[in-house]
Amino acid sequence: MCGIIGYTGTHPALPVLLEGLKRLEYRGYDSAGVAVLQEGTIAVEKKKGRLENLRQATKDRRFTGCAGIGHTRWATHGEPSDRNSHPHTSADGSIALVHNGIIENHARLRAFLERQGYVFQSQTDTEVLVHLIAHHFKGDLVSAVRDALYLAEGSYAICVVEQSHPDTIVCARKDSPLIIGLGEGENFVASDIPAILKYTRRCYLLDDYEMALISPQHVTVLDRNAKPVSKAVFDVNWDENAAERGGYAHFMLKEIHEEDKAISETLAPRLKEHEITLENIDLAGVAHHARRVFIVACGTAYHAGMIAKYTWESVLKIPVEVDYASEFRYRSPLIGSDDLLIVISQSGETADTLAALRLGKKCGAQVLAITNVVGSSISREADSVLYTWAGPEIAVASTKAYCTQVLCLALLMLRIGYEKGVFDATTYAQHLDELKRLPQLAREILKNEGQIKDLAHRYCSLSDAYFIGRNIDYAMALEGSLKLKEISYIHSEAITAGELKHGPIALLEQGSLLIVPATQPALFDKVASNMIESKARGAHLLAITTAEAHSILDCANDVVLVPSLSPWCMPIIAIIPMQLFAYYCAVERGYDVDKPRNLAKSVTVE
Ligand code: G6P
Repeated sequence: MCGIIGYTGTHPALPVLLEGLKRLEYRGYDSAGVAVLQEGTIAVEKKKGRLENLRQATKDRRFTGCAGIGHTRWATHGEPSDRNSHPHTSADGSIALVHNGIIENHARLRAFLERQGYVFQSQTDTEVLVHLIAHHFKGDLVSAVRDALYLAEGSYAICVVEQSHPDTIVCARKDSPLIIGLGEGENFVASDIPAILKYTRRCYLLDDYEMALISPQHVTVLDRNAKPVSKAVFDVNWDENAAERGGYAHFMLKEIHEEDKAISETLAPRLKEHEITLENIDLAGVAHHARRVFIVACGTAYHAGMIAKYTWESVLKIPVEVDYASEFRYRSPLIGSDDLLIVISQSGETADTLAALRLGKKCGAQVLAITNVVGSSISREADSVLYTWAGPEIAVASTKAYCTQVLCLALLMLRIGYEKGVFDATTYAQHLDELKRLPQLAREILKNEGQIKDLAHRYCSLSDAYFIGRNIDYAMALEGSLKLKEISYIHSEAITAGELKHGPIALLEQGSLLIVPATQPALFDKVASNMIESKARGAHLLAITTAEAHSILDCANDVVLVPSLSPWCMPIIAIIPMQLFAYYCAVERGYDVDKPRNLAKSVTVE
């Protein structure tokens, strides 16, 4: 996720900006830049890579100004590069801007601006904003920013400086956080509290559509009609580490709570009124010519792929094979030019997945990557890429990336299905409406956190747990089980419910815990039989199911309810209780949730 810092005061701005950016490093970034107002102009420096590169580049230049803005970029539109880094500047260099968020209608705005003669320097969506502001600027920066933002769709937190306003920063937000730090004779603006904690603990938290005009002595907050707003001061009492986690005890919990936002951001650029738009993907080719689909990934990403095997085969009637990347290349897969290979990887750097991608390409398959990191090796080597816009995931245990991977696979499936004529327009529209409800449903599930915490408290001292399910519920069981074992170190296995009686049932004894995701109406009764068999051997049954699942509700000892959804949407929401359960078990057992033993976030060795 990108980070923003701005400063206006009496001290040189550059050290404050670099310090602020350093405090934002934990969020992940691939380039960084600053713009400082000085001597009637704006001095800009920006560099791909670590902050140290920027620091070195600024060493040889004179940065004397006492007001400026800085940014760490996590690439979305356009690869990580010096050019794509923020700040972006107007053609004459008189205006500079940093931006967090995504401008969804950037292509249309860019075409408009190019017709007006504006020349673009970068591939970013952000650059349209600085040219739009320049286009509207007639001496009043606040009006120009407001006019430009009026045309922008999507999410933004922005800071803008203009050379004839030497100590002023104008900022605005919609759907992306921005705070103003209040100092003595100096003021700050930042995307996150840690960036300013060294200087002040008094803040204004901007709300959507608010703007602010910041100078060393004054902060004026304006509403969407440009009327001044009086804001309450928020006193920060977090320590620096807690501030990085947005006040949550761990990154994992923060990231689970970001799932609604990750889902919205992944959907927003793709989901228009009656259509799914997927950038640069040959959908017709897949719909009409793909003989088979291979999905290859590791860990959690593999479990997202498993969901697609069930849903794609039943809806699209295309055979889907799912492989662990570490197995794929050693099994002489019969993959060729009529096949589509989908590789899924949060980091885009997993060595086994990258090797599988290369093998698929060598065999002539079309390769589509689903990844969270723009500019990653996998995104660069694939024929096409569908990005999960989950933002950086810091906790080792993957959570929000899984939700957005399953969502991307659902978007692809629905779009290909429409292309193939699997859905009529009305059904297709209903499926799109269901997708739009997902962020709200995620928020509702998160309201059950207290119930799940209590369940974790009751079961966390067990040494084993078994997850059973059928069909997509089995795929979810695999992910629920992985979460539990990787952070709580409780031994856990996922078993297809029907296979239980062919061996694993021998492990059950009085008090064994069976966790049962059961979300498929056609299978409720079958799963209930497996639950009853287990209960007869003393197992305790915790079901994650819907209010319609009467046979499951009748036999379960504990129930966490989830809404009824189509099979391709269900896992996006129904996984949340299992993620929270794993999290609270690990917390109860006193483990380092974000950095579990022996595990790495990104495995770049085979
Ligand atoms: C590691 C991580 C897992 C992750 C897997 C695949 O094992 O600990 O959380 O699911 O790698 O990572 P990727 O970045 O390719 O999705």
